[in-house]
Amino acid sequence: MSVIKLSAIDSTNDYLKELSRNQIVENFTTVVANKQTKGRGQMGAAWVSEEGKNLITSILIKDVLQDVDEIFHLNVAVALSIFEVLKANDLPNLAIKWPNDIMSEQKKIAGILIENSIKSDGKIESVVGIGLNVNQKSFENLPKASSMAVVTNSEFDLDEILNQLIFQIKKNCSYILTRQTDRLWQDYHCNLYKINVPLAFEDANQHKFMGIIQGVSTNGLLEIKLEDDSIKSFGIKEVQILL
Ligand code: BTN
Repeated sequence: MSVIKLSAIDSTNDYLKELSRNQIVENFTTVVANKQTKGRGQMGAAWVSEEGKNLITSILIKDVLQDVDEIFHLNVAVALSIFEVLKANDLPNLAIKWPNDIMSEQKKIAGILIENSIKSDGKIESVVGIGLNVNQKSFENLPKASSMAVVTNSEFDLDEILNQLIFQIKKNCSYILTRQTDRLWQDYHCNLYKINVPLAFEDANQHKFMGIIQGVSTNGLLEIKLEDDSIKSFGIKEVQILL
């Protein structure tokens, strides 16, 4: 496994996808950058990060998912890996906010962007992009964002955090490979943000409603109990939590 360190790049996800299009890339090859000029977040949003302060990384993962039905297992494994690294570094009040955010003290510390592709031989290859706010201290115009440094009032070594992250991701991927996904899902649900709490939501038609998160289905849908006690499943673009 190799780590490719870049000073600046448009997007580490795009770089790794392009690399893997042009050559054979070893499993768990990791790209890190000090700065991204076109960092991408979920649903076409930009991912902005102060140069040299945070972890901006993409990891190539292959030979782990055996079927497209299993794709969300990887989201679970990666979200839990970040959660576990933050926990080991004493970050308080941690939670995994569906679908892809890691929260500490009710603020977003990390985001995940996984891009899957199916190769000509039918194998699934994933570029796992992670933006983890580590040492950045101010987040202008981003009132819901925070960092490890802000929350703990101390600084962290980026290489050390990256090593911890890769270790956890490999470990959690091994649970997918050995069909022990139940333990991943159990930990994921135990730490799911606002599970079992009445909340306000908004659907894709700007319709606001109250509900209670019951969990996430194996295909990655958020399951919400509605006021009439029925359970409805929502995809990423179909609902957002109003806080
Ligand atoms: C999100 O929360 O919206 C996901 C953010 C993912 C950001 C990371 S930073 C490294 C990788 N490269 C990108 O362009 N995006 C991901």
